[in-house]
Amino acid sequence: MELNKVAVIGAGLMGSGIAQTCAQAGYEVVNVDVFPGALEKAEANLSALFDKKVQKGKMTEGEKCEILGRISYSSTYEDVKGAYLIVEAVPEKIDIKKETFANLDQYADEETILVSNTSGLSISEIAAATKRPHKVMGVHFFYPAPVMKLAELIRGLATSDDTYRTVREFADRIKKTIVDAPEFPGFIVNRILVPMQNEAAFMVMEGCSPEDVDNAMKLGANHPMGPLELTDFVGVDVMLATMTGLYEGFHDSKYRPCPLLETMVKAGHLGRKSGRGFYKYE
Ligand code: CAA
Repeated sequence: MELNKVAVIGAGLMGSGIAQTCAQAGYEVVNVDVFPGALEKAEANLSALFDKKVQKGKMTEGEKCEILGRISYSSTYEDVKGAYLIVEAVPEKIDIKKETFANLDQYADEETILVSNTSGLSISEIAAATKRPHKVMGVHFFYPAPVMKLAELIRGLATSDDTYRTVREFADRIKKTIVDAPEFPGFIVNRILVPMQNEAAFMVMEGCSPEDVDNAMKLGANHPMGPLELTDFVGVDVMLATMTGLYEGFHDSKYRPCPLLETMVKAGHLGRKSGRGFYKYE
């Protein structure tokens, strides 16, 4: 098994960003998604992002080709063979995660470590879908993964010390700063950040303008993006799913998702990716 090969499952916003991060750190990466359309989109977006970096003088044409050359795209789990570590970044639904891990358990080499990029689901529950729960752990990345410096590490009940050590080394190699987070919904960042975004949505529901709420937080608290801009950036649906996870996980009304978010998701106003969220996009 090559210690230089990793696999990333899911080629959405998070998965493709994690694949990019790993390739930039020198890993050979296979990015797997069962939807070929997602792979094509991920490949095209990454190529466009790197073209911009070359134009800005932040990357040479040679570096671009080298990094892109380290990423392969596949729609079959069989290609995870040979990876010493696999990062899962599929949609944030426990049934999908469990099915993915059961599949990975079947196709990955026996020694391979499986990590989930879940933003709040139980690592122990995901690990229980495999026959190697001691080799399963959580590594929570932040969007955009190549830019955000943090990785939250989450151990499940069965995670072994060896697995933890290897995952720490992986996080070091991809240049992430690590924090150990408890296995509770939202871990650290989302438990604090997402209720703030939820509160901002309540304020819009009560009549505030999104611009006023965002400007207040950008200028009054020095946040790089306002909470509603950030919600649009990450996805209204993703944010609502995280908030719902906190609400259901803690059984506490203080995490009640804002009804406006639910209406927006039903209407397809998912943020930047759908062209409309709290703001409109071209
Ligand atoms: N993918 C990859 N790289 C990206 C990117 C993307 N989607 N968006 C921006 N970048 C890169 C750019 O290429 C650029 O890199 P170079 O300097 O090498 O050219 C760099 O980021 C800066 O981009 P910009 O100059 O265009 O924009 P900026 O300076 O305004 O920064 C930002 C953009 C980094 C996103 C900044 O606005 C920011 O930090 N926003 C807050 C992000 C945040 O809070 N993320 C956490 C979300 S919560 C979460 O992720 C948890 C979860 O579970 C969903």
